[in-house]
Amino acid sequence: MPKETYDIVALPGDGIGVEVLQQALRVLRTASELFQINFRIEEIECGGHYYAQHEMEWPQGSFEKCKAADAILLGAVGHEVNGKTVFTKPGLPYPEPQLAGYTQVILNRRELNLYANVRPVKLYAGVKHKIHGELKQVWEPGKVDYVVIRENTEDAYTGETNDIEDGRMTPIKITRSATERVVRYAFNLARRRNKQLKVTCVDKSNIIGAHRFFREVFREIGQNEFPEMKLDYAYVDAFCQWQIRNPEWYDVVVAPNLAGDIISDNGATTAGGLGLAVGGNIGDEHAMFEPIHGSAPKHAGKDKANPLAAILSAQMMLDWLGARHSDDRLIKAAEKVEAAVAELLAEGETLTYDLIGEEKAA
Ligand code: IPM
Ligand code: MG
Repeated sequence: MPKETYDIVALPGDGIGVEVLQQALRVLRTASELFQINFRIEEIECGGHYYAQHEMEWPQGSFEKCKAADAILLGAVGHEVNGKTVFTKPGLPYPEPQLAGYTQVILNRRELNLYANVRPVKLYAGVKHKIHGELKQVWEPGKVDYVVIRENTEDAYTGETNDIEDGRMTPIKITRSATERVVRYAFNLARRRNKQLKVTCVDKSNIIGAHRFFREVFREIGQNEFPEMKLDYAYVDAFCQWQIRNPEWYDVVVAPNLAGDIISDNGATTAGGLGLAVGGNIGDEHAMFEPIHGSAPKHAGKDKANPLAAILSAQMMLDWLGARHSDDRLIKAAEKVEAAVAELLAEGETLTYDLIGEEKAA
């Protein structure tokens, strides 16, 4: 059922996250006028810079607001002071130091059960690639169109690290329940896309025992519940080169958390770079959308960063909300935003430096 008002929590975070999120919010406000949708948007200051000032990553009660929202829109986290990344102090709030901003990204993903990190790798027409510092057309639109589904709650991201005699050790955790839900998500998506009906499992199961378990669960769910699907397998290191050379091989790709983190950035290379790469952290009850480029402290404060990834995250949010609430206005708004972005990219003029070069953008 469509809702009267949609509650959105906006978490600008740090660095360029703050800048690009403002542009995404402008797009949302315009969509709200054009399609008569009410959004109640609450912006919450947070992240590493907030931690540096307050010794907490956001105001008390913010997590509850995220939990109560219809969707969350995140900029990026990660702040530097004197060239050094800010980490939390022991006990404030975690027993061990974590990247300041950890709560917004990693804890939200885990505590809100946002188990599928959905990262499309799609090349729009007109987009050039920055190779050897020059912009050229390398990959072909239509041949780069797959979706990475990154498991989003475990693997090397449990937050635990233990001291051992000669160093430190971080565990890799793979559970049946978390694996089943994310591989089902991937197979269902391949069904809905109805393109190659193929899901590729990307892991390091030749070496990491926990990844072998991930692959076994993938095979079991695929064979038992999705008999029409082609099951495909790749080790993450080899996959990194194939996704560059032959992106057209892929339809839906599913991977444990860390492998998914890496292949989604690598895949972004073939789709115009991180300035265009988006991610939806999706669960059964909640969802959080974000550009995947991070806070890029080096580029912050210049207002030059590409806002299109943030705008496409808002687009993904509109689409997800529309499907969830059977609200046609939201679906239409999502289509309109994507079409506008595609048009802008095809026209190839009014774009940031990463897509058209410093001189043209100046
Ligand atoms: C991402 C980012 C995060 C991650 C960082 C900022 C913790 O790289 O969303 O891909 O590793 O998940
Ligand atoms: Mg990443």
